[in-house]
Amino acid sequence: MPDLMIKAEKVNKEYNRSGTIIRALIDIDLEIYSGEVVAIQGPTACGKTTLLNVLSGLDTPDDGKVFLDGENISRSAEKRLSTIRSQKIGFVFQDFNLIDSLTAIENVSALLWPTPLHKKDIEKRALAALRDVNMLERKDHIPRQLSGGEKQRVAVARAIVHQPRVIFADEPTGNLDPQSGKELMDLLVKLNKDYKTTVVIVTHDQQIADKYGKKRVRMDRGKIVDIS
Ligand SMILES: Nc1ncnc2c1ncn2[C@@H]1O[C@H](COP(=O)(O)OP(=O)(O)OP(=O)(O)O)[C@@H](O)[C@H]1O
Ligand SMILES: [Mg+2]
Repeated sequence: MPDLMIKAEKVNKEYNRSGTIIRALIDIDLEIYSGEVVAIQGPTACGKTTLLNVLSGLDTPDDGKVFLDGENISRSAEKRLSTIRSQKIGFVFQDFNLIDSLTAIENVSALLWPTPLHKKDIEKRALAALRDVNMLERKDHIPRQLSGGEKQRVAVARAIVHQPRVIFADEPTGNLDPQSGKELMDLLVKLNKDYKTTVVIVTHDQQIADKYGKKRVRMDRGKIVDIS
């Protein structure tokens, strides 16, 4: 039996928007095992991003528990959450979130600048990550010199440079054409195979969820309505 990487127990999260309570997550129970590829699907505003944020320690639940790699992170202080994120988690976003003024290799390296690693080691790791996503030849380009698919591959290199246990990707193909989207998904699945990295992907795209999600979690109005 593989290790339990993420466990959510009765997780609830509300937002208060000008006096109106929005129940973004309602009694969420979820188990994700080490090495799984999980696709989270559901209509807009059903709570997918909120769930990803709570599972990854970007946000905290109002009540319930979230365990990440065995540690209950649902009440952790921001300092601890930030350490956990920087050691165990890689993020990929729909709009790439690269720093416009930095080259590809600088964007990837930047994640390691706060660590005590030596400059040479940081460069070595950044080059290895760029090689993994097949972007070594474009390492000195800034984002505006890259296509959408290439930007997203640099973003994936940044997500894996610290060898995380889990990659969380929120609509990673949302701004890509179908071919680049397919290549990006193939890349995430390859990383999952090669490094046993757990991958949790939010997607609107039914075909992507069916093809790549070994486990599919369907949400609707703040609840998980199906796991297959
Ligand atoms: N910071 C916030 N303040 C107030 N309401 C919020 C906030 N973040 C999310 N919400 C609300 O919570 C609900 C769930 O939002 P969430 O972003 O998780 O949905 P989603 O499934 O990711 O949608 P999409 O597919 O459009 O990205 C929505 O009704 C949204 O408006
Ligand atoms: Mg979202």
